[in-house]
Amino acid sequence: MATKTENNKSSANKSGEDNNISPSNTNQQTASSSESKMEDSPLHKFFIDALKDILFAENAIVDALEKMQEAATTEELKDAFEDHQLQTKKHISRLEKVFKLLNKQPEKKECKAIVGIIKEGEDIIKSTEEGSMTRDVGLIIAAQKVEHYEIATYGGLVQLAITMGHEKAADLLEKTLLEEEDTDMLLTEIAETSININAEQED
Ligand SMILES: [Fe+2]
Ligand SMILES: [Fe+2]
Repeated sequence: MATKTENNKSSANKSGEDNNISPSNTNQQTASSSESKMEDSPLHKFFIDALKDILFAENAIVDALEKMQEAATTEELKDAFEDHQLQTKKHISRLEKVFKLLNKQPEKKECKAIVGIIKEGEDIIKSTEEGSMTRDVGLIIAAQKVEHYEIATYGGLVQLAITMGHEKAADLLEKTLLEEEDTDMLLTEIAETSININAEQED
């Protein structure tokens, strides 16, 4: 991960050297013209759209984690979902800060992927018995699909923010990325140390 970051930092510098601004311009003119050029670029628009997508997703995840917490059998899993719901609310406020840094409104754009992943989780709740360990096995897998979607998204957004020179936004997005990765690891640990084993004994 660290190596990738370094590579992208150097490629960001390279692209900065390659812009078409006349050397006779002052530094200030150079900064403002390259900023507005960047704002109009297809990549910048893509970046903002991707932020709107993950803002929608995080809001949907807060609601989904509420239902998953209620549906879970074990206290251990209920607690994990509750803790991650609190973290998810922090992810939303971090995203709002990122929008502010970029002078954009924190709008949401429907994320079809997360709608599908959450629907799958709801189907797992319907198709497993209340109070069973098998339900918790299913809920962990459903939750890990959510985390992996978020890890893929934040991983890409962090690298893109670095490339585009949005260092503060990159730092905020990376904090969230690390929390998603920790949650994914915690869920694996819960599954491997107790829930999967107990579910195997179930009739
Ligand atoms: Fe999140
Ligand atoms: Fe998450």
